[in-house]
Formats: sequence, structure tokens, C-alpha cells
Amino acid sequence: MSGKPRLAVFASGTGSNYDAIFHAIERNEVAAELTLVVSDKPTAKVIDKARNNGTPTFTFEPKVYPSKAAFETEVMEHLHAANIDWIILAGYMRLIGPTLLHAYEGRILNIHPSLLPAFPGLDAIGQAFQAGVKVTGVTIHYVDEGMDTGEIIAQEAVNVQPGINKENLQKQIQTVEHRLYPAVIERVIHNEYSRGGNTTT
Ligand code: GRF
Repeated sequence: MSGKPRLAVFASGTGSNYDAIFHAIERNEVAAELTLVVSDKPTAKVIDKARNNGTPTFTFEPKVYPSKAAFETEVMEHLHAANIDWIILAGYMRLIGPTLLHAYEGRILNIHPSLLPAFPGLDAIGQAFQAGVKVTGVTIHYVDEGMDTGEIIAQEAVNVQPGINKENLQKQIQTVEHRLYPAVIERVIHNEYSRGGNTTT
């Protein structure tokens, strides 16, 4: 890897995490190039944000491809053309398939709005809210073939204040995400995090 690591952010929605990463790079808090935004939703708000920031985008509609392997192969072509080193998932609402997993083994990160392994999958904040937990939070993890199952890199707890509504809990969690994700990306892409997990005796 020569020069700064090159990131592609994958997102399907609002893109507030994309924006937070973009601005952290701009402030030199993350030494990286944010070279590409990839989205499976051409009309997603993240695309407007990327255009405003001048980040190149690649969008596609999964339903026009015969298979996940077919659209991931095309995504790969764009990643290779842009010399992407790391894939950063930020609200990308699909499981990553073998095509991308093998090509970017150990170089795909995700952020999830709960303390995994609690509340994986869709609407993690709603799930935590419904369950009545007193503490939830944010997890950043490596991506494997499962749903929010890869090795955990970092977590931060968020207290669920008595009487808080779901919208305000979401705001609190997103505030943590926007600070934590850039900070963790900076460490991981510069090899300041060693993999391996815990050992049991
Ligand atoms: C975030 O809460 C993230 O944890 C989850 O999807 C949401 C994306 O939000 N994976 P945004 O599109 O970055 O605003």
C-alpha cells in the first residue's frame, strides 16, 4: 500500500456516517482518501451528500442483475479502478457475498447500532427499545458472511434514559457513531488494532 489508504463507503440510506467520515478526513483526523461511495439505492440521500462533497459515486440496482455475484463483480471493477484498499459499510442494507468477501478479506468494516451480539439485523434501536434494556450502544466489527457476526473491534455503551423516546435514543446513538467510526477506522487502517479476539483457558 503506497500513499494514504483508499476507502470506499457503502451505504443505502441517509449517509450521516459517510458524512462524518468525510469531514473527519477533511480535518486530518483520519489519514485516508475517501475515494468512492457505492450504493444499491440510486436515490438514497447519501448520493446527494457525496455529490455535495465531491466524492465519486457508483450506484446500481440489484434487481437488474441475475445474481449477487453478478452485481458484486461489477462493484469490484469499480473498486479496482479506484484502487480501493478498504470497504467501509455505513448503513449498507445487504449481506456482503463471497465475491467481495474473498477479494477484501479482513478489509471490510461495519457499524451497527447496538452492543452486538445483542440485537443484530434490522432496526436494532427499535429492538433494544422494545426489549426495555437500560444500556445499548454501538459496535464496529469486521465483516464476515453472517448478519452482524464478524469479529468485534470496538464498542461504546449508551444509557437508555428513563422516558426517552426512540427518536432521541437514535440521535444519541448516531452522535456516538459519528465520533467512534472515524476514530476506529483511523486505528484499523494504520494497523493499530490487532486481530484475534479473546482466548479462553
Ligand atoms: C447507522 O445507525 C448504522 O449503525 C447502521 O445504519 C445506520 C446508517 O445511518 N448500520 P446513516 O445512513 O449513516 O445515517
